[in-house]
Amino acid sequence: MEKYVINGGTTLYGEVEISGAKNAAVAIIPAALMVDGVCVIENMPQISDTEMLLTILRELGAKIRYLNRSTVEIDCTDVCMQDAPYDLMRKIRASYYLIGAMLGRFGHAKTTMPGGCNFGVRPIDQHIKGMTALGADVDVKGGFVYADARDGKLHGARIYLDKVSVGATMNIILAAALAQGRTIIENAAREPHIVDLANFLNSMGADIRGAGTDTVKINGVEKLHGGSYAIIPDQIEAGTYMVAAAATGGEVLIKNVIPRHLECISAKLRETGTIVLENGDSVLVKGASALRKINLKTLPYPGFPTDMQPPMCALLCVANGTSVITEGVYDNRFKYVNELRKMGAEVQVDGRVCVVEGGKRLSGAPVAACDLRAGAAMVIAGMCAAGTTVVEDVRFIERGYENFVGKLNALGADIRIVDEPEESNGREKILSMMG
Ligand code: EPU
Repeated sequence: MEKYVINGGTTLYGEVEISGAKNAAVAIIPAALMVDGVCVIENMPQISDTEMLLTILRELGAKIRYLNRSTVEIDCTDVCMQDAPYDLMRKIRASYYLIGAMLGRFGHAKTTMPGGCNFGVRPIDQHIKGMTALGADVDVKGGFVYADARDGKLHGARIYLDKVSVGATMNIILAAALAQGRTIIENAAREPHIVDLANFLNSMGADIRGAGTDTVKINGVEKLHGGSYAIIPDQIEAGTYMVAAAATGGEVLIKNVIPRHLECISAKLRETGTIVLENGDSVLVKGASALRKINLKTLPYPGFPTDMQPPMCALLCVANGTSVITEGVYDNRFKYVNELRKMGAEVQVDGRVCVVEGGKRLSGAPVAACDLRAGAAMVIAGMCAAGTTVVEDVRFIERGYENFVGKLNALGADIRIVDEPEESNGREKILSMMG
């Protein structure tokens, strides 16, 4: 059971390199299953979610090898429809992309209901609506999703999403890429990783237009061929370091980013008094001597991302004044606030609204990472706090941040990874102290 032990009161300075986007990678790996040939994928983030998906593909018969630290070669030529490792599938949200990918390639799919972070009910009704419209019979029973193309092949259709959903948009794109005829997705999500998935598939021979707008048009093709592709930088990882730099009053150059994807985050940080300067493929963040309160609402892209809500909440705990955060995407994404309160934060939650009484000096405490981004928020709060914070359940953080502790320590944080076996007698093994 790994924990992070954070000695607070540090200020972040220096440069950090952003890895490939998790939420693009977790769709592109299943997409490789649809390719008849070898895909070379660069900028693959080294995180447990991508490792799990690569393991699933390997168990389905894919040949996978790393060409260097972040470049992976995936050959799914010999993959055939067989039972997948369901114990792994149920651990991650993105396993739902295997529905679209397997339906596209084999005409049928069996996956578990997806896992992932718990933000209240996270239905997949829009995914099912899409697959059904494309001509699949979809049945959910016993924790599994069974999908079968009625006549062995999917057929293009016009699909209006009742809810703007990243997962449903990407899953339908996957399934439709190899369907017969034209699919139109209306009220599609517009996140950068949707464009990235479409670009990946197009570079392998697909015909997808309009990704990044609310109408995506997919002309199905017979087959996809191999090729090379580089995943975009991670918007949320970059945003997390931006917020960490601002919250600790530091100065950090965040490299390998697409500043346009960060505009929503940069705009809200500027309102707090933080300086954000864009330059080519990097942004420089300079913390203000006194951060100001702000109000924000999370929304689908290009709105402020829900995944940045917990880190931003940690920052607002140390900003002057009362901030109001409204969660516009999930029903229940403020559970982590209880953990912040253990550090002296004054935060009230009422449904989807959270009121932060800022300007309090946080103090170190034992806290848990309730989920991936909540975990990042605890680490940011821990760096701002006086004394020592111990963050438990950091496996959630490692699902989505590559070398989080190493990158933060290289910027001047003081964080140790402590591995304490569940049955240990309290003896701690210090795994990592250096950047
Ligand atoms: N929704 C439905 N029905 C559906 C699908 C979604 O009602 O069929 C609802 C959800 O319950 C939610 C809203 O629509 O209220 C948006 O959900 P969306 O489908 O967009 O989210 P997701 O695909 O499950 C992805 C990311 C999340 C990120 C959201 C929103 C992956 C694997 N996950 O989830 O990432 O929060 O989009 O941007 O791509 C994270 O990285 O920490 C993370 C949780």
